[in-house]
Amino acid sequence: MTDTFQPAVNPSIVQVQSVREPGRAHVLVIGNEKGGSGKSTTALHIAVSLMSDRAKVATIDLDARQGTLTRYIENRAAYLRRKGVELAMPMHAAVMASGDSADEKARFEAALEPAVLGTDFVVIDTPGSDTHLSRLAHTWADTLLTPLNDSFIDLDLLARIDPETLKVVRPSVYAEAVWKQRQIRSMQGARPVDWIVMRNRLSSLAARNKRDMGTVIAALAKRIGFRVAAGLSERVIYRELFLNGLTLLDLKRGGGGIGPSLTMSHVAARQEVRDLVAALNLPPPDAAAPSAVPETAAATPDRPTAG
Ligand SMILES: Nc1ncnc2c1ncn2[C@@H]1O[C@H](COP(=O)(O)OP(=O)(O)OP(=O)(O)O)[C@@H](O)[C@H]1O
Ligand SMILES: [Mg+2]
Repeated sequence: MTDTFQPAVNPSIVQVQSVREPGRAHVLVIGNEKGGSGKSTTALHIAVSLMSDRAKVATIDLDARQGTLTRYIENRAAYLRRKGVELAMPMHAAVMASGDSADEKARFEAALEPAVLGTDFVVIDTPGSDTHLSRLAHTWADTLLTPLNDSFIDLDLLARIDPETLKVVRPSVYAEAVWKQRQIRSMQGARPVDWIVMRNRLSSLAARNKRDMGTVIAALAKRIGFRVAAGLSERVIYRELFLNGLTLLDLKRGGGGIGPSLTMSHVAARQEVRDLVAALNLPPPDAAAPSAVPETAAATPDRPTAG
């Protein structure tokens, strides 16, 4: 392994649906060193979408200090208690950073192991910065999903772009980090990661920025080896249900006792999430997997503590 970034000439990206290792969950890591790109929002929406297809899902929050995903799931549990309704819940764990790599590795693996053995999919939310826990998670990813705001500021962490020609000058920090984690994974004999970049907060307007971003991302995909998913539009519904821990995938026509009633705009948003999940090409749930019902409370060993 060399320390110099070599753009993949023939990137080893997975072009077909991934195959599940029998009895083990498929690990989906949501990662981007850029903060605020929509990782936690995407993680929850994908988890709920998979659960609505009757898959058993575990979620792991590696950004436990901020704890957005953990709060989302706690809010969901509280909503169910308050309203006396039933909704699928993931097995959830949060792993707090400690600054000690060996300790972080041990606690991450302690959270991951039961999740991998007891569910179909493990969805891991990572912080918007380069941390040891995040790097570790990237080496476990069967699928890596990188949400990217439709902005050249966000794209700057993937590649330097020539302002005159919009050509890719060179890959930058996050692309290099993924490349290194790919190498570690391949040295461990694991299958190549399927890396997918999704555009987030897409404007409904056909603005020049949106078109230019599309052109540059398509060129970059070939250069550094990822697939591109259409992603999610800018919509209030992706954020307004946070306090109740719901997503638009939980809503029903006429209300049905859960959150606001489903509107036409929600139906379009729901399709967007479903299309995103389909674009991930995840393996189907494991029919032979253990049928234990995940328990959220018991599986939360490392809740963030104050201070
Ligand atoms: N498609 C969307 N439409 C509207 N708002 C969105 C969308 N995606 C994310 N947001 C909002 O953008 C903000 C950042 O989203 P989120 O917290 O999911 O990002 P993140 O990548 O997890 O951030 P961090 O790096 O800080 O963990 C939040 O206010 C969220 O509600
Ligand atoms: Mg987050």
